Formats: sequence, C-alpha cells, structure tokens
Amino acid sequence: MTNPAIKNPRAEHDFVGRTCSISAVGSYVPEKVLTNADLEKLVDTTDDWITSRTGIRERRIAADDEYTSDMATRAAQRALERAEVDPADVELIILATITPDMPFPATACLVQEKIGAHNAAAFDVEAACSGFVYGLEIGQQFIMSRTYDTVLVIGAEKLSSIVDWEDRNTCVLFGDGAGAAVLQNRENTHGLLTACMGADGRKASILSQPGGGCLHPATSQSVSDRLHYLKMDGQEVFKNAVTAMTTAAREALARCELEIDRIKCIIPHQANMRILNAVGDRLGAREDQVFSNLQRYGNTSAASVAIALDEAVEQGQVERGDLILLLVFGAGLTWGAAVIEW
Ligand code: UT7
Repeated sequence: MTNPAIKNPRAEHDFVGRTCSISAVGSYVPEKVLTNADLEKLVDTTDDWITSRTGIRERRIAADDEYTSDMATRAAQRALERAEVDPADVELIILATITPDMPFPATACLVQEKIGAHNAAAFDVEAACSGFVYGLEIGQQFIMSRTYDTVLVIGAEKLSSIVDWEDRNTCVLFGDGAGAAVLQNRENTHGLLTACMGADGRKASILSQPGGGCLHPATSQSVSDRLHYLKMDGQEVFKNAVTAMTTAAREALARCELEIDRIKCIIPHQANMRILNAVGDRLGAREDQVFSNLQRYGNTSAASVAIALDEAVEQGQVERGDLILLLVFGAGLTWGAAVIEW
C-alpha cells in the first residue's frame, strides 16, 4: 500500500483530454547568402556538381558576431509573438544543437536570458540533425503529463563554425539558421499524434566532430589535425538516411493507422534532394506532398525541419487541421518521425 502521508503529484496525472499542440512556429536565417558560385572560389567544386548531386543552390552564413543563441532567440521570439505567449509564461526551453555557443552552460540558458523567460527551466538536446523531433517528443512528455503547460522547442545551428572550408566533400552542404515551436495543450485538435525516435551508436563514426570533447580535448595538435571540424562519410550517411527516415515514417504512420495519402505535407530533414526523392518514392508519396527548401538553405541540421515547417505554414502549404509528417536523420546515428495534426 502506498504511504498516504506522501502526496504523489504524478498520481493525478491523466493524459485523457490532454493534447500537445504546436501553437505557433517561427524561424530565422542570417542575411549573408553564400552561393555555389562563391564556393567555386573557395574549393575545387562547381555549381553544376553541387546542384546536380544535392539540389542546394545557396546557404545562409551567420555573421562573425552572430551566434547560435542569437539565431535561436530570433526564431523563438517570432514563435512566441505568433502564439501570443509572454516569455515569462514559458516553463521549459529545449534547444537542439550541435553548435552550442560553448560546451557549457547550455545555449538554452543563454536564450532563456535573451528572451526574458526567467521562469523557464532550460537545457540543450544533442541529437544532431534529429534534434528538433527529439525536442518535440521530450516537450510533449512534459505537456501530456501536465508538468508544464507551455514549452518552447528550438533547433538552432551555426554550422559554418565547424565546417572545414577546405573540404569540398562537406563544406558545400551546410548552412546556418534557427527554427522554434511553442508547445501547448490546445482544444479541438489532436496536435502531436506521435513521435518515434531511434538511434544506432554502432555507426557513430560516419558523421562526427571528433575534437573538443574529453576524447580529443583542444590542443595545438588537435587543431593541426583538423579534429574540430565536421567529418562525414557521405555515401554511408546517404544510405542510412534513406533507410532510417523511411522506416521511421512507416512506424509513425502505422501507430496512427494512417496511409501516406492522408498526409498533406511531408517535411524531411533538408540534407540532399536525392535523399528527399528516395524517401518520398519509397513511401509512395506524390512529389507535391514533399516540402523542400534546401535549395536556399542547405542542411541546417537541428534547425532544418523547424525552418521548413515555418515556411510551409507561411506559404499556406499547411493549414490548421492538416496532417504533417516530420522526418529527421543525423549523426549518432539518430532518426525520428513525428505526425502532427496542425
Ligand atoms: O545531416 C546529416 C545528413 N547528411 C546527409 O544526409 C548527407 C548525405 N550524403 C550526401 O548527400 C552525398 O553523399 C554527398 C552530397 C555528400 C556526396 O554525393 P555522392 O554522390 O555520394 O558523391 P561521392 O561522395 O560518391 O563523390 C563522387 C565524386 C568524388 O570524386 P571521385 O572520387 O569519383 O573522383 C568526390 O571527390 O565527387 C567528388 N566530390 C566533389 N566534386 C565536386 C565530392 N564533393 C565534391 C564537390 N565538388 N563539392
């Protein structure tokens, strides 16, 4: 028998009648545009190679004095304004990034200060390009359990700070930016129906930034060995991305007993147009169901699907009541899929 002298707040938790919805989204990309023609001057590449192999035409690059926390702050402020939420009412900030302003404190805490969300708990999530869906799933748990009523989930990256600008295999792919979502309990909607998360640490080495942790702390040797840059086995990542996002999508749809044609907008991680096409084909999706903006931003890792979701909403490709499928994949390996009634 439980001890009656101890009040267990969780005993009153009840998911029935509770939803976790995205009240509003917001995004921010830096002003500076780096085109494929610009990259031709930096490394041995061509606009034709980049466009035909990736679909990317340009990407945004943050200013020297513009950091992940600044971009996250701009995206968060836009989302909060649209949701008509006072920053003081935010109870939790989850920030997904692989390019924090510094190893610690968490960039989420820096954002908490910048937006004036002084009542919020704050922490970072490191799930690479899958971070935004990981963040949504974590945030949902707090909303559904009635621990919090308002959670801010942000994906933000300054990838230009870890990209090796001498490595043509990787430097053409990435860009900077941020996206944010306000999670709340809303009536008359199912909101976030499900989110699947997955990981496979056996393949950790195919995409990583080896230096800067306790394995290879920063030394003059680690710097000259270029260990602080992003390293990627592109072909392996490509194959795993297609398989993982397809599998995650099928699992998420099956959980909701949905067929792909019920989804209004599929928003995959914006890594490579050939990956988006391959995933769309395997799922039996029509071309017009798959959203892409990687032509303009490249791969912005944790910010990618958050920025894309904001643009899909802004462009009217998604309206309230529509079903959305978010698909993510990244280093770890990590992956995820989320089905949302918008
Ligand atoms: O956010 C995490 C998810 N990341 C991804 O999903 C990225 C997944 N991978 C990819 O998108 C593709 O694998 C890449 C775009 C990175 C590469 O495309 P690929 O068709 O797999 O090319 P590859 O790596 O097989 O390289 C083909 C050739 C190579 O030359 P050789 O060895 O055949 O002579 C490369 O050296 O293309 C060369 N190459 C380039 N040439 C011009 C590689 N990068 C470039 C470049 N410009 N930027």
